[in-house]
Amino acid sequence: MDTVMQNSGLLDIPLDRLDVSQHHLFRTGEVLPLFARLRREDPVHYCAQSQNGPYWSVTKHEDIMKVDTNPKVFSSSWENGGIVLDDAQAIPPVKDFVISAFIALDEPRHGVYRRAVQPIVSADSLRSLEDLVRTRTKKVLDSLPRDQVFNWVDLVSIELTTLLLATLFDVPVEDRHLLREWSDVTATLEGMDGFIGHENRIAKLTECLHYFMKLWNDRVNAPPKFDLVSMLAHDPNTRNMTPIDYLSQILVLIVGGNDTTRNTMSATINAINLFPDEYRKVREDRKLIPAMVDEIIRWQTPIPHMRRTALEDFQLRGKLIRKGDKVAMWYYSGNRDEEVFPDGDSVNVNRPNVSRQLSFGFGIHRCMGMNIAKLQLRILWEEMLDRFEFIEMLKPPVRTMSNQINGYTEVMVRIRG
Ligand code: HEM
Repeated sequence: MDTVMQNSGLLDIPLDRLDVSQHHLFRTGEVLPLFARLRREDPVHYCAQSQNGPYWSVTKHEDIMKVDTNPKVFSSSWENGGIVLDDAQAIPPVKDFVISAFIALDEPRHGVYRRAVQPIVSADSLRSLEDLVRTRTKKVLDSLPRDQVFNWVDLVSIELTTLLLATLFDVPVEDRHLLREWSDVTATLEGMDGFIGHENRIAKLTECLHYFMKLWNDRVNAPPKFDLVSMLAHDPNTRNMTPIDYLSQILVLIVGGNDTTRNTMSATINAINLFPDEYRKVREDRKLIPAMVDEIIRWQTPIPHMRRTALEDFQLRGKLIRKGDKVAMWYYSGNRDEEVFPDGDSVNVNRPNVSRQLSFGFGIHRCMGMNIAKLQLRILWEEMLDRFEFIEMLKPPVRTMSNQINGYTEVMVRIRG
């Protein structure tokens, strides 16, 4: 990784004082050698004191799979603490405004909502999206300034991901900035850059609710269409949900489809600049594009962790996780586990087992939008290679300060060729 600090005093901290969840460690990249240390010295690690109280860190690939595929013991439910280490939760506990998105529900409720929107990722749906995604990608890339420095995050990553979201919800593309705003407001918690305060947050999300209620009212009695709102409005199991339940499902779809793919698009530029030989290989053989997409998603790991809460005592690698304990599955670490991905800090387009990467999670909550993301990223690669010789990054990127989203706010570039 570009900014990894190799000889930091942090590496010498006694294990019982090591807290890898501190947001700033992700911005600087310092967290990666710390994860390597945990994998080596204490792969299932207990941190007794942190900004969010005690928690377990699970850092090896094999152990993360064990936790992620055992939802009976490891709960995602917001009632038990939810899916992120941060106790501030996605939404503060304001009466009547409890967000319960299906990503933060256990069975059977999780499956009810997931099944309602699952058709959006069917093979037919993906086929029908392909042309539209390509047309938009071409338009965005053709409009980029030549011989000028610009921020790739703003002009490409955000633009392409919000355009796609507008399509999935079937809202006017002119409203895509609203989707981005609501996504950011949902994902930015107290203590992170850009937090706007609890009251402002509720106000923004109420605005989002009103916007989507109008869409619901327009679509619930109209013939079913192929968009996420219509799917929820017409499925007999979700048709009668409360407005807040509806808002919750909308928010997970907005956030899920926004930050993650956006940051992978930005990571792509970082990756090809740090590993230009790998870029050249793909230029010379376009059949490598899907492998490169997967490899960059592994390397970036847009969601560094998901949290679970133990519903009963559980033994993992000789450690006793007790009922009620918080457990962080550090995908960012599992994706660099030397036993599975040797030299994991490097991008290697020929990595034979990249499909074992953990970035999309595993088990019942495995990312629903995985194939949409891969489609967007593949098309971006194809269209980039058709147009540009290289996209040069002019200075180190600015990263987000968050243990929940591995992202970038600034990737300054100039197009070459
Ligand atoms: C869930 C990652 C793109 C929608 C997840 C999870 C992860 C993830 C880690 C949680 C898995 C777990 O708890 O086991 C990513 C990455 C992406 C991406 C790395 C891009 C590179 C997308 C897109 C969409 C989307 C484009 C929608 C358009 C969702 C939804 C869930 C989810 C709805 C909840 C699934 C459930 O709880 O059943 N994603 N995601 N994601 N993602 Fe993605």
